[in-house]
Amino acid sequence: MRPTILVTGSSGQLGFELLRALAPLGKVHAPVRAEFDLARPERMQAWLDRVRPDIIVNAAAYTAVDQAESKQALAFALNAAAPELMARWAGAHGALMVQYSTDYVFDGSKSGRYVETDVPGTRMIYGASKLAGEQAVLAHAPRSLVLRVGWLFSAFGNNFLHTILRLALERTSLSIVADQIGTPTSTQLVADVTAHMLSASLSGKLSEPWGIYHVSASGEASWHEYARHIVHELTLDGVKLACAEADVLAIGSSDWPTPASRPANSRLDCSKLAQNFDLNLPHWHEGVSYALAQLLRSGALRNTRWTQGARRKL
Ligand SMILES: NC(=O)c1ccc[n+]([C@@H]2O[C@H](COP(=O)([O-])OP(=O)(O)OC[C@H]3O[C@@H](n4cnc5c(N)ncnc54)[C@H](OP(=O)(O)O)[C@@H]3O)[C@@H](O)[C@H]2O)c1
Repeated sequence: MRPTILVTGSSGQLGFELLRALAPLGKVHAPVRAEFDLARPERMQAWLDRVRPDIIVNAAAYTAVDQAESKQALAFALNAAAPELMARWAGAHGALMVQYSTDYVFDGSKSGRYVETDVPGTRMIYGASKLAGEQAVLAHAPRSLVLRVGWLFSAFGNNFLHTILRLALERTSLSIVADQIGTPTSTQLVADVTAHMLSASLSGKLSEPWGIYHVSASGEASWHEYARHIVHELTLDGVKLACAEADVLAIGSSDWPTPASRPANSRLDCSKLAQNFDLNLPHWHEGVSYALAQLLRSGALRNTRWTQGARRKL
């Protein structure tokens, strides 16, 4: 029988891609916030008892990293208590669970890439709430996958790629932080990897697939290099920007203070994913190219100053 799959957060940039990627695996249910509110445990419990999903994929979260510093209770309610409730339900009913976590569980002081066995140590509320969430899921849902991701982008939704696009259309120069390094990763890639991991886990061919996995594209960049790459690609595409690539300027984190202290090193090692699931993920440039191609072909851009006849073809 086709499994019943709950996808939370389907209005978000990752949840939206999961609807597409998980459809071949089963019957996907994507309740809106009014039906399945992470801040209302009794509603979540009632929904779970009524629909009884075989697989829970939790892409909903409190994702406002800076605001979390002043909204600690809300961040923990959504990022720790709500996943715990889902995990307890999954554990009690033999369901599978996928929980997304973040590179921000680490403090960024390691010189190399972070592996799954590195001890987390975060200096921000968002990271602490996500860490509590992953620990709760692992404790209560024996058949769970905790996927740590970072620097997510997509052609849709709020993310760095969109911010740079908007600013480069409006401003003649941009100042971007150059002393934080990570790997931009498309939500399409994370959704497709999730589908593959679930499919392989359900096949029964893997003896013990459960636990924490780091999932990111390959390669690395600072936010500054990432921004320059976006401007470079858009310029090649013939988009009339106010800002040239050379006018994307490097600044330090200290020049751009934020309420939450972000790690200098957000790079994740994905060897465990490659070894256990035979997946080697493409370079982040590929995801950016695809997202920009989607944007260029999007009807949503008709009323902007974007030029016609872009070089990119899907
Ligand atoms: N974005 C990143 O760079 C990044 C980095 C590391 C980890 N992650 C993790 O990856 C996952 C997906 O992130 P994302 O970028 O797709 O997030 P997103 O675009 O901000 O979407 C968040 C989703 O959560 C939903 N949500 C928020 N509060 C809710 C509530 N009280 N009840 C039910 N739903 C609620 C939102 O619904 P509404 O539309 O109703 O607000 C939205 O669908 C999250 O676990 C996040 O922590 C993201």
